[in-house]
Amino acid sequence: MSKKIGFIGVGNMASAIIGGITSVGGVPFSDLVLYDRLPEKCEIYANQGARILSSECEVAEASDVLVLAVKPQGFPELLKTLAGAKEIANKLIVTIAAGITVDTISAALKTSSVVRVLPNTPMLIGKGVSVICSSETVSPEDFDFVVSMFKASGEVVIIDETEMNRIISVTSSSPAYVFAFIKAICDGATAQGLDGESLLSAVCDMVIGSAMLLKQGGKTPAEQISMVTSKGGTTERAMGVLQERDLTGIMEEAMKACTARADELSGH
Ligand SMILES: NC(=O)c1ccc[n+]([C@@H]2O[C@H](COP(=O)([O-])OP(=O)(O)OC[C@H]3O[C@@H](n4cnc5c(N)ncnc54)[C@H](OP(=O)(O)O)[C@@H]3O)[C@@H](O)[C@H]2O)c1
Repeated sequence: MSKKIGFIGVGNMASAIIGGITSVGGVPFSDLVLYDRLPEKCEIYANQGARILSSECEVAEASDVLVLAVKPQGFPELLKTLAGAKEIANKLIVTIAAGITVDTISAALKTSSVVRVLPNTPMLIGKGVSVICSSETVSPEDFDFVVSMFKASGEVVIIDETEMNRIISVTSSSPAYVFAFIKAICDGATAQGLDGESLLSAVCDMVIGSAMLLKQGGKTPAEQISMVTSKGGTTERAMGVLQERDLTGIMEEAMKACTARADELSGH
């Protein structure tokens, strides 16, 4: 019998996961059980055959696998509510909330069957990177099931939970830095009298091409930089400004701030 997959919270990330498992993963919509505080978020899936329920506990009770996809700030209340759901300890719990630890959920729901995953928004188009915490308490079959759910919308990396809060700044919050970088290049074009907005697509292609060259070209980032930077040329002048303003230092500071917030959410 196929597993019923429940989602509590049907926002951006739940939609990305649902998109992957129902297309690439081949999970029928009839195996999905959903609840969001805003019922209109579920409508599109109801039309395709998903079952929409009207409380967190109803979804928990109707699911074999339960994905907790609400904001971290909502977890204390959510866990209190779910602790009252029937047979909650027999469910495979998947949490995607930044900073909420396996121990916090295990203690609240009295279960060891919890997998913590950190997805990112490129999952929405099947190009995500999901970082999954390894687990000694979840059965290999259940763990592989969770891996397959996230592989349906991109790449999966498995790490130890001790690294999880730090990796948020690397693969999960980081699409925002890339979007900021792209916007800054477009704004820089506008500042020089070009039409930065209409150049957005070309800039995106440049970023995709550069990333693919880096992945496939067999060279380090430093080697790729030196291939673009000829002595006394234009790039050298631009890179001089980035070095003077300490781009690496700025990134380090931003990423440490990200980790500090994840630690706060974890209660450290
Ligand atoms: N966005 C990212 O890039 C990203 C990356 C990695 C991990 N995450 C994690 O993914 C989780 C979800 O993020 P998201 O961006 O998908 O958030 P989102 O778009 O705000 O979706 C969450 C949805 O859950 C609803 N909700 C909140 N509490 C609920 C409850 N008790 N029962 C049912 N529905 C409830 C929210 O309604 P209201 O708006 O009314 O509260 C909202 O519709 C977060 O924990 C976040 O840390 C996000």
